[in-house]
Amino acid sequence: MTEESRTLYEVIGGETKLREMVDRFYDLMELEPDFAGIRSLHPPTTDGSRDKLFWFLSGWMGGPDHFVERFGHPRLRARHLPFAVGTSERDQWLRCMAWA
Ligand code: HEM
Repeated sequence: MTEESRTLYEVIGGETKLREMVDRFYDLMELEPDFAGIRSLHPPTTDGSRDKLFWFLSGWMGGPDHFVERFGHPRLRARHLPFAVGTSERDQWLRCMAWA
């Protein structure tokens, strides 16, 4: 298979690597004071959040669509409406993901 026809999911190393990235993302969110703002929006334990982000990104990257199988259409904007997400929260999330 050529590089162009592989999915992002395959290119990054599949389930194992994606799970590692999501775990690193939430480990950093829990450890780094810079991300305390977005950490405080999440539940006391991030186990469920880790699973949901992993399930979503798996499908988004062209791998198994675990999130849609469980919950239907992602509706990510609607699912985030309960949380106060402004510029600071957006920047924290993106920086945390860039580090991960
Ligand atoms: C812009 C900054 C963002 C903030 C502050 C934020 C924050 C949150 C919070 C507090 C939750 C609830 C956690 C939970 O239910 O356990 C959540 C859920 C979720 N977020 Fe984000 N998020 C952001 C961006 C994103 C982005 C860019 C994606 C996708 C790449 C994403 C994907 C998800 C998913 C899949 C869920 C689970 C939704 C559900 O099933 O209820 N988030 N987010």
